[in-house]
Amino acid sequence: MTKRVAILISGGGSNMLALLRDMASGDHPASPVLVASNDPAAAGLAKAADFGVPVAAVDHRPFGGDRAAFEAALLEPLLAVRPDILCLAGFMRVLTPGFVDRFAGRMLNIHPSLLPLYPGLHTHQRALEAGDAEAGCTVHEVTPVLDDGPILGQARVPVLPGDTADTLAARVLVQEHRLYPAVLRRFAAGDRTPLFL
Ligand code: GRF
Repeated sequence: MTKRVAILISGGGSNMLALLRDMASGDHPASPVLVASNDPAAAGLAKAADFGVPVAAVDHRPFGGDRAAFEAALLEPLLAVRPDILCLAGFMRVLTPGFVDRFAGRMLNIHPSLLPLYPGLHTHQRALEAGDAEAGCTVHEVTPVLDDGPILGQARVPVLPGDTADTLAARVLVQEHRLYPAVLRRFAAGDRTPLFL
């Protein structure tokens, strides 16, 4: 039974596109049913539409700090497509425990660090400031604690002399686009064995 995947984005959606490409490459246990964003101007929405995937946008700004109200609005298009799996891909809104609990055990996120190192923002700058020899990305199950759920996959890159946060981010992003599709394939097939690339 093909798993129905909804993807949440906030911007360019490069990880979303990597997931769509892989799901379109045949013999995949999942298929995309929706790409939704908290930003109606997210460039990823046009990329998803070009890919033939239904899109939705629920602007979070009119809701101010009322996260629950924004999430209730976001749930409408989301639940309408009956997703089996929810993938956060460059989604930049913190979700309430109430929302997360609705998708417990079937919501994934990609984070640009080797968790548990550097949850939160500015991960590459923090790795550089710490003098780390390696950096990377992590796909994890989403739990109510930010960037903290069970790890489903990681990919590592070397930190090179002269690296800036931007050069390191670009190197990590290449690995994100390998890791996330590979983890989703496994996860959709019912395999939660962590994958280390
Ligand atoms: C990436 O660094 C990703 O790790 C993080 O958001 C950034 C942009 O992702 N989640 P994308 O290009 O929008 O997929």
